[in-house]
Amino acid sequence: MSTLRVFVAGGSGTIGIPLVRALVEAGHHVTALTRSADKQQSLRALGATPAVADALDASRLKDVVLAARPTHVIHQLTALPKDGPRRASDLAPTNRLRIDGTRNLLAAAIAAGATRFIGGSFAPIHGIRPDALAGVQAGVVAVQSLESQILEASRAGAIEGVVLRYGLFYGPDNPATKRMLALVRRRMLPVVRHDRSLLPCIHVDDAVSATMAALDRGSAGGVYDIVDDRALSMTELVRALATMAGAPAPRAVPAWLPRLVSPYLALMTSLRLPLSNAEARAALGWRPAFPTVQEGLAQTIARAA
Ligand SMILES: NC(=O)c1ccc[n+]([C@@H]2O[C@H](COP(=O)([O-])OP(=O)(O)OC[C@H]3O[C@@H](n4cnc5c(N)ncnc54)[C@H](OP(=O)(O)O)[C@@H]3O)[C@@H](O)[C@H]2O)c1
Repeated sequence: MSTLRVFVAGGSGTIGIPLVRALVEAGHHVTALTRSADKQQSLRALGATPAVADALDASRLKDVVLAARPTHVIHQLTALPKDGPRRASDLAPTNRLRIDGTRNLLAAAIAAGATRFIGGSFAPIHGIRPDALAGVQAGVVAVQSLESQILEASRAGAIEGVVLRYGLFYGPDNPATKRMLALVRRRMLPVVRHDRSLLPCIHVDDAVSATMAALDRGSAGGVYDIVDDRALSMTELVRALATMAGAPAPRAVPAWLPRLVSPYLALMTSLRLPLSNAEARAALGWRPAFPTVQEGLAQTIARAA
């Protein structure tokens, strides 16, 4: 592939950092967006050119995107609390980014003459039923807005839009995985009895390789599930984590208990969404290096040790 000019919005995030690293290693010229002037040095150390702007400030964002002259723009913006969302209201800033931030970034990318726009979406949200909590519905609407804005711009011929619906991220540098590992070691992460969940997951390294593949593969208007080979239940996930970390077996609690403590977390961990990566494999020529969570967790625990 020839050298591309890639603008990564969310370049300082969980997927953004390894993505920037991979893009630089592949020889591309990368501009990474952050709101914080303090992060410029670490982005330079990755080999990227930093750009400082708030994605909700359309005019400033357009200026920095135009200055970067990107051929490709990648949207990896979220604004979730550092210790993860616990209630639906925690999604509100991310919802704004998915609606208004997407609009601003798409407009800037098109104005800059970029040819391709890759949007990072969230697969699990598609498993939420219409009668779920109202606050969660706002999250669904925001993800739908992100996806439909990208696909509409692609249909209109303004830019090639590709949507990547990532499963739940996990991996050695993933804050959620680190948190789960700490809890499981203290036997503070229970499993629920009669768990019927099926959660699509993806190792962050595999989310990065799929995003790299989407730079020049996958059709304009394509929507791909970037998930590993087999969805697993929350119980399987927690038990695998405990076994591999040498932690005590997790306690089992009735399903009503997590619903009482955090209805949002209980909903997100009880989704049943057995997605397939067959289309992503075929269209992107991509395959996960960690096809199952068990394989990915083995690497995660080894790295943590
Ligand atoms: N985490 C998951 O399990 C998961 C699962 C599925 C999909 N995803 C997708 O993966 C992508 C990113 O997730 P992540 O876990 O990497 O997020 P993250 O670690 O929280 O990073 C968020 C990024 O967004 C930037 N950002 C936030 N608000 C901004 C604003 N107003 N203006 C400009 N930049 C802003 C942050 O930059 P600064 O703080 O430096 O400004 C940071 O680079 C999203 O596309 C999300 O939908 C995540």
